[in-house]
Amino acid sequence: MSIFKSDILQGKVAIITGGGSGINLGIAKALVDHGASVALISRTQSKLDAAAEQLSPDGSQAKGFAADVRDVDALKGAIEKSVEAFGGLDILVNGAAGNFLAPAAALSPNGFKSVMDIDTLGTFNASRLCFEHLQKRGGGVILNVSATQAFMPTPMQVHPGAAKAAVDKITEDLALEWGPFNIRVVGIAPGGVEGTEGMKRLMPPGMDEKMRAALPLGRFTTTEEIGQVALFLVSPAAGYITGTTLVVDGASAMPLSGVFWTAMRQWGG
Ligand code: HXC
Repeated sequence: MSIFKSDILQGKVAIITGGGSGINLGIAKALVDHGASVALISRTQSKLDAAAEQLSPDGSQAKGFAADVRDVDALKGAIEKSVEAFGGLDILVNGAAGNFLAPAAALSPNGFKSVMDIDTLGTFNASRLCFEHLQKRGGGVILNVSATQAFMPTPMQVHPGAAKAAVDKITEDLALEWGPFNIRVVGIAPGGVEGTEGMKRLMPPGMDEKMRAALPLGRFTTTEEIGQVALFLVSPAAGYITGTTLVVDGASAMPLSGVFWTAMRQWGG
């Protein structure tokens, strides 16, 4: 289901880091379905090839270029190849992220650093490397994938929480500095997304149904829903939105919403 014309992004080229799976693949699909060509960048070429094949069986609208966003030279190389393959760049989606549950007291310095390197430095470095390419087209859009951990204190999530809070700040500051180049910088902060690596890693075993029941809408979101919101944010319909991170979490991160809902439902039968 889409409220947009299927050619709204015709002729546009997007780079999507972390685009081989999950939320970012959902965003890639929404963009391809509306006319864009997408270059997917993440660590494993075989995973990227499978994702590109799924998005665009003839290869005309999707290609994968392997690079770890922590390796700036490799990232630069993959960005250059993407721009060459599709003839320019209009949209960058910074989706590459790392995460695992770990209590702060047991988290090693390198564990914290690894997530900061992927999420925060990866976002800045990809944005910085894409800036001149976006500028060449007279402007464009950068979409940073954040998370509710950025503003909601979350147990065992100090590393991604800090990393995504920094990503949100990058969204604000780049919007300010790059607005004059007609580059919008926006963010999306999803809550839990069904069927993703993040959900697998972050859901305490056996808690799925209890967690769903505690959510205001009684369910997590989907990659399709996040894809549609991302499509809106990168489309001309959102032309005056910049420096903002849109929370798409079904009100799950409202303070104590889960606790209140559980109590009210028990009280109301
Ligand atoms: C404690 C851990 C750990 C765990 C890794 N580390 N997993 N510490 N509990 N479960 C520590 C390691 O001990 C090591 O520190 C350091 O992190 C680096 O780990 P490596 O395995 O050597 O690194 P690497 O192979 O590069 O892995 C990167 C990773 C990993 C982020 C740590 O989890 C990963 O690659 N994940 C795949 C991507 C991913 O997580 N996708 C889901 C994103 S979910 P030491 O000290 O031992 O050297 C998501 C949605 C929600 O983003 C976002 C919320 C903000």
